[in-house]
Amino acid sequence: MRGIILAGGTGSRLFPLTKVTNKHLLPVYNQPMIYYPIRALLDAGIDELLIVTGGNNAGDFLRLLGSGREFGSIHLNYTYQEGEGGIADALRLAEHFADGEKICVILGDNIIDGSIRAAADDFRNQDHGARLLLKEVHDAERFGVAEMQDGRIIGIEEKPSNPKSPYAVTGIYFYDNSVFDKIKTLKPSKRNELEITDVNNGYIAEGSLTYSFLDGWWTDAGTFESLARANRLVAAKHGLILDQEPGIKL
Ligand code: G1P
Repeated sequence: MRGIILAGGTGSRLFPLTKVTNKHLLPVYNQPMIYYPIRALLDAGIDELLIVTGGNNAGDFLRLLGSGREFGSIHLNYTYQEGEGGIADALRLAEHFADGEKICVILGDNIIDGSIRAAADDFRNQDHGARLLLKEVHDAERFGVAEMQDGRIIGIEEKPSNPKSPYAVTGIYFYDNSVFDKIKTLKPSKRNELEITDVNNGYIAEGSLTYSFLDGWWTDAGTFESLARANRLVAAKHGLILDQEPGIKL
């Protein structure tokens, strides 16, 4: 299985932090954001990786990561997304890299506490189709949300104002090679992007979508609130309690 990290976009929700750098190079506690998805994939035994980036600072990924040697056994590839076409548009660029194999796609601003190893193994054993990782959240309207029936996902809505469940579709997706044909049939959404949710609904329509629940905490880091949260969560993992400052009432 090959891994694809989507790290494009202009990071407009984090402006001006992203005026002179790419969102995925911003710090999350003691490491650049992109390190976390790289480590999540390596931990799942996926070491052939493609980074899809974009914007004005794409060269900085190469300056930061180079061949990826500091991560040990890793084969790092890069490609470039022109413009702001959305997640599925960025994924389109990975067809050649995937070369017919199954893929694990992770959004470069998704940070996890635990491991995706078990889900990756389940997908290795899955004959065909796709597998999502779900997480129960209290603010589901910010995400793609799974509608469940009898333990199955029967539909996914992108940022619904009235979520049909508390289960967010995290930005970690396992796909078979038919994902690229599905992307070719997509039409741009209201926000003028090719939506990954439409891809996932395509798998539901053919009855080949499975899921796992993600263990541990999960956060995106693409807004000021979620970036601050990501920093707090990772800092806490390192034993740092940020809401206790001696002499300061927070
Ligand atoms: C994207 C997806 C959404 C998913 C989320 C996870 O949203 O469209 O379905 O739940 O990532 O981080 P975005 O952050 O691009 O608005």
